[in-house]
Amino acid sequence: MLSSLCKLLLIGRRFCGGIMVFYMLILLGIISNLFSFGASSGEQPLSRIAIHKATFAIHGSAYVKASPNVLGLKGENKEWVTLEYSHPDPSSDDWIGVFSPANFSSSVCEPENERVYPPTLCTSPIKFQYANYKNNAYNKTGKGSLKLQLINQRDDFSFALFSGGFSNPKLVAVSNAVIFANPKAPVYPRLAQGKSWNEMTVTWTSGYNIDEAIPFVEWFAQGTPIRSPAGTLTISRSSMCGAPARTVGWRDPGYIHTSFLKDLWPNLKYTYRLGHKLSNGSYVWSRLYSFRASPYPGQESLQRVVIFGDMGKAEADGSNEYNNFQPGSLNTTDQLVKDLKNIDIVLHIGDLCYANGYLSQWDQFTAQIEPIASTVPYMVGSGNHERDWPGTGSFYGNKDSGGECGVLAETMFYVPAENRAKFWYKTDYGMFRFCVADTEHDWRPGTEQYKFIEHCLASVDRQKQPWLIFLAHRVLGYSSDYSYSVEGSFQEPMGRESLQELWQKYKVDIALYGHAHNYERTCPVYQNSCVRNASNLYTGPFAATTHVVVGGGGAALSYFTTLRTKWSHFQDVDYGFVKLTAFNHSTLLLEYKKSSDGKVYDHFTISRDYRDILACAFDSCARTTLAT
Ligand SMILES: [Fe+2]
Repeated sequence: MLSSLCKLLLIGRRFCGGIMVFYMLILLGIISNLFSFGASSGEQPLSRIAIHKATFAIHGSAYVKASPNVLGLKGENKEWVTLEYSHPDPSSDDWIGVFSPANFSSSVCEPENERVYPPTLCTSPIKFQYANYKNNAYNKTGKGSLKLQLINQRDDFSFALFSGGFSNPKLVAVSNAVIFANPKAPVYPRLAQGKSWNEMTVTWTSGYNIDEAIPFVEWFAQGTPIRSPAGTLTISRSSMCGAPARTVGWRDPGYIHTSFLKDLWPNLKYTYRLGHKLSNGSYVWSRLYSFRASPYPGQESLQRVVIFGDMGKAEADGSNEYNNFQPGSLNTTDQLVKDLKNIDIVLHIGDLCYANGYLSQWDQFTAQIEPIASTVPYMVGSGNHERDWPGTGSFYGNKDSGGECGVLAETMFYVPAENRAKFWYKTDYGMFRFCVADTEHDWRPGTEQYKFIEHCLASVDRQKQPWLIFLAHRVLGYSSDYSYSVEGSFQEPMGRESLQELWQKYKVDIALYGHAHNYERTCPVYQNSCVRNASNLYTGPFAATTHVVVGGGGAALSYFTTLRTKWSHFQDVDYGFVKLTAFNHSTLLLEYKKSSDGKVYDHFTISRDYRDILACAFDSCARTTLAT
């Protein structure tokens, strides 16, 4: 058993020959402050398993058996495996880690410099579960079984049983390898609007490099299918800015392809599939998907938009859950999937999957949202958990991205930004204009981003696109979240001071944010004062922007201050999302729905005519002349 284990780990060549127990790593250790994280700290569950020396504690009679050996025989990219395991000396803190590649090896780990040791073995598991999960008898009998869900992510898997908990892991046994029938298959398409209204982009992941196969999308509405070429990007370990993304969290993200489907007919339904033409002339295909093309800007038709932040990911099999961090994400995903025929476009405004430098989680996230993102444009914003890293140009010098410094988000998802590393962009959807800011880069007057924001707000024809929406990850407007109240700002410092004149001048209807993991709606507010009383119906001319925090997409909730402000109208500490419905050019409905039941818990309607936009509100119009 040990020799096969050493072979499996590839470390036998160096260390195993004859010595049965020794110090040799293996990943996994501990997390520093197990119970000290704050509700919105964004701790990645895998970070509980840090880089500490582990020991072998091989039991000749211990085993883990995984079946079936081959998954996805009918083309599935998500499958369940069953583990049977036995440990003669069981304990309640025994756990099982899922590793991929199955040969998790010290030889693939390069220390950041020669003085860094450990890590020697540099592979975090993709996920983990306690051996006694749903196996009450395990603590006595040492026998258990577990069902785990795997997704196709370009390599094989093995399952390792550890004793000693997370703080002192001892490797007891490793299973046989399990693999998908085609591990390189094209998977998890995500749609995004292109730079023009009649262009849809399709981004997906595969195991095929460009010297192995030519990537493309085959698509059609009626008649003969068209093939559109795709570009290919890769991500190297050296492009990561720090640990864990460069060390234990690194896992090859594969090949990321994007194809641009152009000259679409408004509202027409298209069918598509992902393709790779191999060098031998044969093809590898995904299954068929479909989407509806975006409406022409200004077009009057029913248009429904879902907006939320901070969703994260969770495992359907219950693994990785020890800190209850992203418990709402599956509920949110499920509600959106259930209502997908009534949703036209989704905006996820930052803190996407909280991979935090554990790169395998991006595959997990794109697999989770696949039913949504493959069907409607899934437009993303950048948050602290995508971008922030010291010394890399992020506005905040913290380590929230786990060393990813934006590279994963900017590559895994397409956004119609001029420069994808500067994550601000505009996108039009029928009667809507969305201006998406990037709070992880400076937005203050004089910056490149400030110029973009003003241009985005100023350049929309409100007669055709009356509904002007501003979005950002951090709260640049108003929030009663406890953390913002402690700072005394009720906003991100330097947020609204810089921007409120723009929102007022350009009559932004609604500004939405994430980052604070709750829901809150203000009155129409300007310079800290309600310009109008909060209501469920606003008619007539614009008064001021309504600010909405919708950061309860799935990550652990955060609480409000008990201080009462005049501008805060509705607060809810729960998981949920916002749905905007534009019925026509004069009626816009905002609904806040809980992820648990999909029902509406707050709403308001804006009802107005075009001439109402031309009327002046306080600070919203230039001075006029009385000359005739
Ligand atoms: Fe955040």
